[in-house]
Amino acid sequence: MLRIIVLGSAAGGGLPQWNCNCAGCRTARAEPALRNGQCALAASADGESWFLVNASPDLRQQILDTPALHPRHGLRHSPIAGVILTNAEVDAVAGLLTLREGWPFAIHAHPDVLEVLAANPIFGVLRPEIVPRRPMLPETPFEPVLACGRASGLTVRSFAVPGKPALWREEEGAAEGDSIGLELSAGGRRAFILPGCAEVTPALACRLAGADLVFFDGTLWQDDEMIRAGLSQKTGRRMGHISMSGPAGAMAALDPLGIARKVFVHINNSNPVLMPGSPERAEAERAGWCVPGPGMEFVA
Ligand code: MLT
Ligand code: MN
Ligand code: ZN
Repeated sequence: MLRIIVLGSAAGGGLPQWNCNCAGCRTARAEPALRNGQCALAASADGESWFLVNASPDLRQQILDTPALHPRHGLRHSPIAGVILTNAEVDAVAGLLTLREGWPFAIHAHPDVLEVLAANPIFGVLRPEIVPRRPMLPETPFEPVLACGRASGLTVRSFAVPGKPALWREEEGAAEGDSIGLELSAGGRRAFILPGCAEVTPALACRLAGADLVFFDGTLWQDDEMIRAGLSQKTGRRMGHISMSGPAGAMAALDPLGIARKVFVHINNSNPVLMPGSPERAEAERAGWCVPGPGMEFVA
């Protein structure tokens, strides 16, 4: 069994974003049911121990809203056994600071991302003797262990995907760890998690073909949507994110791959698919995609 809970499916800033007055953010301010935290997921092979995929700045609330992640016994406890990072963006790592307070878990990340944590002494609040940092090398499957040394039953294989350096780090140039995809497997089931991806290359298409479950970059509906809305000067391509729609978009690229369940995550607040009645949401659903809200669980 492979259980994956979407803790939040919005992109950086969340829905609504604190300083944004776009139509989507205004609607979400008025309708609490539409509010959505920044992208993070929790995965488990046994329903007991959970591994977070990214630690969003909204993590405290996301844990509070997710019963599977609540303490179960004793005075101090958490089912969270590890955090797997897919990049070094603020929306992926800031929530690590929420996980201070002395609970043992492990951080698994590409060496480039671990370098970022090491270079920012505030992350030392997670003392390495309690929270070890384990290099996650691409194409090298591993089974994360629990703090007690027991196996988790989850196998993780990471791989580099087309992307770009974290926004705050762009001047340092591109590096392998900029955008990592994950293949999780347990009990013969396979799920992929790619919160950031600039392009579906033939090699990536091959890898995803026939998967049971894929969570995929849903940042924008179309490449110039933020420019048209007057929100930014940047295209999706410039931000390292593929669009959902169009001939080179994610829906077209994943359509022929025979994936049983396709789920968009990391959805920007400018993206109309976040609005349940929108024609874009209807089009994505017709194409077989799910646009999940916080708390939605998937079993592969
Ligand atoms: C991204 O995914 O492109 C970043 O999270 C952007 C940001 O930090 O706002
Ligand atoms: Mn992001
Ligand atoms: Zn907005």
